[in-house]
Amino acid sequence: MTVLAHFSDLHLDGSPERADRAGRVVSYLCALPGALDAVVITGDLAENGTAEEYAQLREVLKPLHDRFPVLMCPGNHDVTPVFAEHLAAPQSAAAHGGVQILLVDSSIPGEDDGLLSTSTLDWLDARLAAAPGTPAVVGFHHPPAALGIPFIDVIGLRNPAALATVLSRHPQVVAVLAGHAHAAVSTTFAGVPLLVAPGVVSTAALPWECASTWSYQDDWVSLMFHTHTPGGFTTHVRTISAR
Ligand SMILES: [Fe+2]
Repeated sequence: MTVLAHFSDLHLDGSPERADRAGRVVSYLCALPGALDAVVITGDLAENGTAEEYAQLREVLKPLHDRFPVLMCPGNHDVTPVFAEHLAAPQSAAAHGGVQILLVDSSIPGEDDGLLSTSTLDWLDARLAAAPGTPAVVGFHHPPAALGIPFIDVIGLRNPAALATVLSRHPQVVAVLAGHAHAAVSTTFAGVPLLVAPGVVSTAALPWECASTWSYQDDWVSLMFHTHTPGGFTTHVRTISAR
């Protein structure tokens, strides 16, 4: 069985409060008695995308890197060139636990919504074509489907149909992973599970929960565990204290 931990939207801004919330997730994962095949972080690691924020991220995430493979991609709050210089490659392919994990950059400089460029889609297509027999997970920041969160749905992925076309050629893709919504959401996209990780920094309010704010900072932080077996792809959500 392949086990992936998945969280998103840390939005580190130099403040101890946000570092503490991210640190709780790191501590929880590092204290697990069992093994994880990889940890996936789907964007908005920093609030403003500065070198100083990425330095704070490196420090907060270090225990995780010491124990597990950690894979990540930028979000709209990240600045890709700075992310690439100070944190990680913005696009990566790795195989862990028999699953190919492809992470790409869906951010557009200066914009909140997202796009998978032609070159990014071509790269995904080629990587998937090169390993047709290996189960694959594709991850990026912007959800390619509406989630029922109005503030997020208007700044999602601009070209989901182009991604769906690529995925239709590669039936070994078992799931699409995203962030951005600050909410643990499970739906489907192009016939595969779409799992949106909760936001470490805050939780998005649904329209029927709160009319006055788009998100709130609660006493909890959450993450997902995805498992893959020959029998299928399964997701668990874990919520831990933020204090
Ligand atoms: Fe975002």
